[in-house]
Amino acid sequence: MKALITAGGHGTRLRPITHTKNKHLIPIANRTMLSYALEFAAEAGITEAGIIVNQGDTEIEGEFGSGSDLGLKITYIPQEAPLGLAHVVKIAQPFIGDENFIFYLGDNILVGGIRKFIDEFESNGSNCHLVLSKVSDPERFGVPEIEGDKIIGVEEKPTEPKSSFAVTGIYLYDSSIFEAVNNIEPSARGELEISDAHQYLLDNGRNVTFSEITGWWKDTGKASDLLEANRLVLDNLQEERNGTIENSNVTGRVSIGEGSKVIGSTIRGPAILGKDVVVENAYIGPHTAIADGCRIIGSELEYSILMERTSIIDVQTRIESSLIGYDAEVIRGSAKPKSHRLLIGDQSRIQIS
Ligand code: TTP
Repeated sequence: MKALITAGGHGTRLRPITHTKNKHLIPIANRTMLSYALEFAAEAGITEAGIIVNQGDTEIEGEFGSGSDLGLKITYIPQEAPLGLAHVVKIAQPFIGDENFIFYLGDNILVGGIRKFIDEFESNGSNCHLVLSKVSDPERFGVPEIEGDKIIGVEEKPTEPKSSFAVTGIYLYDSSIFEAVNNIEPSARGELEISDAHQYLLDNGRNVTFSEITGWWKDTGKASDLLEANRLVLDNLQEERNGTIENSNVTGRVSIGEGSKVIGSTIRGPAILGKDVVVENAYIGPHTAIADGCRIIGSELEYSILMERTSIIDVQTRIESSLIGYDAEVIRGSAKPKSHRLLIGDQSRIQIS
């Protein structure tokens, strides 16, 4: 069994962060999103993983290299353009060969790993095994039509969904999927759709089975999804206290990295501070992840993700539900007249209230 993991795509919904950073490298609880998928593959006993990257992207390889640190042998597979998930499978055929494989969308975060899905695929003797999750808005996803323990149809983003399940970004295949991806046509939006490949398998009498995720699953396309995923991972945080804490009140599960200083502040976990973070005369509330080298001084922050080396200084309104990129500054100025002075990149979103 090999793993095929996506790290390409447009990332339009996460601009402007994705103008300068591959979305799969955005931190969730201070670890890159993609590291969760790779760790699940290694934990499930997989040793070879192919990662799909956009043509010319060297960031992902720079981060994970040969994969040996994770116990994996990683092959990087460039995709000329984001032409759809079935296109991803199509170009991965030389890497996969005749083996069975798990196809895992690198922007999906779940709890509990993937071993049970592999076991179910293998014990069912399926050609294709889809992992489903009950959602309130199935029209945003690929939606299965189910009869008994079998899937009998799959539609991509249907206006009238035939079930309340979403097909998540975890799929198991044998080599019949290559016949499917080589025989379907691009959709109206110009992509080779994975739902069309699944429908092709069904139309050709293949065995398509499913598991339901009963725990937590999130497709992290938007900033609010990342904050939710961050919350979930922090809820299971292993506490580690390094650095120094002076005249502060630190309660709940709080992890503090080496070289960090917490002075005259309140931190209510679950929260994580990376290395060399300074929190001074500040409040850090639950479900906050602060990456290495950030400074939070005279300010309040809650339910947010801060990427490396960002400063929040003397801001008097609490900052919450925010995703703030690398080397950013949010500072209260003293110059008169009193006004907001902004230097904001393309497609940023600032909500002032
Ligand atoms: P999506 O979330 O569907 O698309 P996206 O990442 O381009 O984001 P947006 O809609 O905000 O523009 O992609 C799901 C996953 O698949 C994600 O890991 C990116 C990846 N992907 C590829 O690697 N190649 C592709 O051709 C497509 C469509 C997606």
